[in-house]
Amino acid sequence: MGSKLTDVLNRKAQNPPPVWLMRQAGRYLPEYRALRENAGSFWKMCVTPQLAAEITLQPVRRFGFDAAIIFSDIMLVPHALGLDVAFEEGLGPKLSPVEDVRTLDRDRAAWGRRLLPVYESLRLVREKLGTAALVGFAGAPWTLATYLAEGRGSPDQQKARLWMYRDPAGFSELVGVVSECVAFHLIEQLKAGADAVQLFDSWAGGLPAEEFERFVVAPTKSIVDKVRAERPEARIIGFPRGATLQGYEQYAAMTGVDAVSLDTAVPIGWAARTLGPKIALQGNLDPLALLVGGDALARAVDRILAVTANVPFIFNLGHGVLPNTPPENVAALVARVRAA
Ligand code: CP3
Repeated sequence: MGSKLTDVLNRKAQNPPPVWLMRQAGRYLPEYRALRENAGSFWKMCVTPQLAAEITLQPVRRFGFDAAIIFSDIMLVPHALGLDVAFEEGLGPKLSPVEDVRTLDRDRAAWGRRLLPVYESLRLVREKLGTAALVGFAGAPWTLATYLAEGRGSPDQQKARLWMYRDPAGFSELVGVVSECVAFHLIEQLKAGADAVQLFDSWAGGLPAEEFERFVVAPTKSIVDKVRAERPEARIIGFPRGATLQGYEQYAAMTGVDAVSLDTAVPIGWAARTLGPKIALQGNLDPLALLVGGDALARAVDRILAVTANVPFIFNLGHGVLPNTPPENVAALVARVRAA
């Protein structure tokens, strides 16, 4: 089914552009907090299709976004690989660090069983979504490898970086197994009704150019190739957060994604001139401008709209909605984009 979002992913510029936000479901919404209180835990919501579907739909109902992103987490892939994942209140994910790639479960039937709740959630959302597009997602291999190596999020991803230099062959094997599981997960999400999928490489920043090429660009390309081999019409968005401008250019040229999502630091005018219109763009409003609202938000929105008017562009943030964002600022953002 055609949607504004898929039109843009097919390189057709839309005025006004479609709008949705990373982390549009979550703690800044009172209706999310109410459901979370009842459910008891974040993980339970991710693996209970009725709950995940309802949370996915909450922000679409409230704000009329052009896309719904399935409520899930990038940690579903480590779970599929047989690891015990826990979420600590306010701290994020925790798992036992992986030291040997042979401990990962490579059985695709087991992956399918562990990931089934996500596909059920997608089917439930698809039934109720109407004309908005449905977006599936996964963490990209490099970002997932940083969590596997460390056992948690870390500001500098030291364990993964050390492993990468000390044992490049072993680390490549780890990234390879994760890539297989990510490709599997994206294909199954498309089969379950996702109109597009997004790869989150949240920790792509700060890698030396050669390692960026080897552990961000190359695995992303291998996943895109695998997904397209099974679903030639698949629409894929990539988000190499924190990459250098040269990194973004290389990622856009080499991976085969339909769109790149831009973090807040990328000059949007540069991206529109350099990356568009061969590839669609998404992003890059500062989540802090959204949190502040008022004139600061209006100015930031207008600046982005001014340079993307004739570019295939999806209005979004440069990273996720922050928990203390007032919901009325989100409504103001959507109204301002729609008035363009
Ligand atoms: O609305 C959406 O965008 C869909 C849902 C979504 C979540 N996580 C829900 C979530 C998506 C797309 C993600 C991706 C994700 N998860 C990433 C990549 C994007 C990014 O933000 O960089 C990463 C690195 C994770 C891992 C993760 N999950 C962390 C680091 C945390 C803790 C951070 C925090 O805000 O507490 C989570 C938990 C998480 N994932 C929450 C939500 C709504 C908060 C859970 C809660 O306490 O209710």
